Amino acid sequence: MPSVHVELADRSYSISIGTKTLPHMVETLKGHINSWTHTVLICDERIFETLGIQVRDSLQSDGMRISCLIVPSGEENKSAASLTKLWSEMLAERTDRKSVVVALGGGVVGDLAGFAAATFMRGLRFVQVPTTLLAMVDSSVGGKTGINLPEAKNMIGAFWQPHAVWIDSQCLQSLPDREYRSGLAEVVKYGVILDESFFKYLETNASSILARESNAIESIVRRSCELKAQVVAADERETSGLRAILNYGHTFGHAIEATTEYGQYLHGEAISLGMTMAGHLAVKLGMWTEESLLRQRNLLRAFRLPVQRQPAQAAELMEAMQLDKKTEHGKLNFVLPTKIGHVKTVAGCSPTDVAQSIEAVSNA
Ligand SMILES: NC(=O)c1ccc[n+]([C@@H]2O[C@H](COP(=O)([O-])OP(=O)(O)OC[C@H]3O[C@@H](n4cnc5c(N)ncnc54)[C@H](O)[C@@H]3O)[C@@H](O)[C@H]2O)c1
Ligand SMILES: [Zn+2]
Repeated sequence: MPSVHVELADRSYSISIGTKTLPHMVETLKGHINSWTHTVLICDERIFETLGIQVRDSLQSDGMRISCLIVPSGEENKSAASLTKLWSEMLAERTDRKSVVVALGGGVVGDLAGFAAATFMRGLRFVQVPTTLLAMVDSSVGGKTGINLPEAKNMIGAFWQPHAVWIDSQCLQSLPDREYRSGLAEVVKYGVILDESFFKYLETNASSILARESNAIESIVRRSCELKAQVVAADERETSGLRAILNYGHTFGHAIEATTEYGQYLHGEAISLGMTMAGHLAVKLGMWTEESLLRQRNLLRAFRLPVQRQPAQAAELMEAMQLDKKTEHGKLNFVLPTKIGHVKTVAGCSPTDVAQSIEAVSNA
């Protein structure tokens, strides 16, 4: 089966990508994961009856001891309370250093289960089985795990790389349409920041991607994972600044999410607006062409992602951006495109330019 390799010395792993491959997961992965006899399957409640049972049955037929731990769906469950509950359940299930945690769900379960794996008995092996597009192309790759505090998202966490990532495109067939399209915003992001020919592929194949054809899904997931894997291999812990390019559209996007109490837009929708604002800023600074901005906007619109937001004050977003944990010493730094397939970080942007870029994306 095609796979993408994530090169991280002794923490390297592969991402297997296919369709209808869930039943073969254990037999394949057992070749790479030694002495695997107990699995802690941590599953999103919403998909337990469908995908959870499928995975549980395939583990069972392998003669494995299995502990099924079910996590209620939703971002509010990526919490200290859920984590404590998982730790206790893992203890009660006699989890030991040889147990393997399997995270089955979207980014919420991946981050939470990954952090439980990172911390229980100082670290257990774990496998990511992402079931949302966002988790397939983004959160399951790269080893960031963690939980939210009531005051701030993703504030507590650890870098903890999985032993494998297993992607079955078939899992996406039950994903609500809005969640699927939201994940496409991150896919567009990879094209803009790193790969013009991938961007062209997305433009040409937008309708088969929207129709969730398995070939199209496999292609976009594979290329997104390759690109993220390259960035992560070069800057695993976000120390050289390279990994920061993955934040394209996110400084604006996080502020949009925060000022709408995480209720109005899904993450990818906010990132779609954020990339549009960043695009305007790049054009204003003379770094990017109007034509490229239009191409980005047309592709986002083809995926039915928002590129105009409700009338709103720029001041509120500006304030939220100052509070973003990625803002250093009050300076507004942005990842901005110079051409499709290339970005750079621009430090100390003028507040007037930033505010005008926000306003360009608001319905007057
Ligand atoms: N670790 C990282 O590097 C990283 C990167 C990006 C995002 N994240 C995190 O990821 C989270 C968002 O992830 P998400 O968008 O996957 O959200 P999510 O996990 O909440 O899933 C979205 C919704 O889809 C449902 N769902 C999941 N799989 C399904 C399926 N196959 N069929 C039907 N419904 C399904 C879930 O129950 C949920 O209601 C956030 O917490 C974010 O902070 C982490
Ligand atoms: Zn994102």
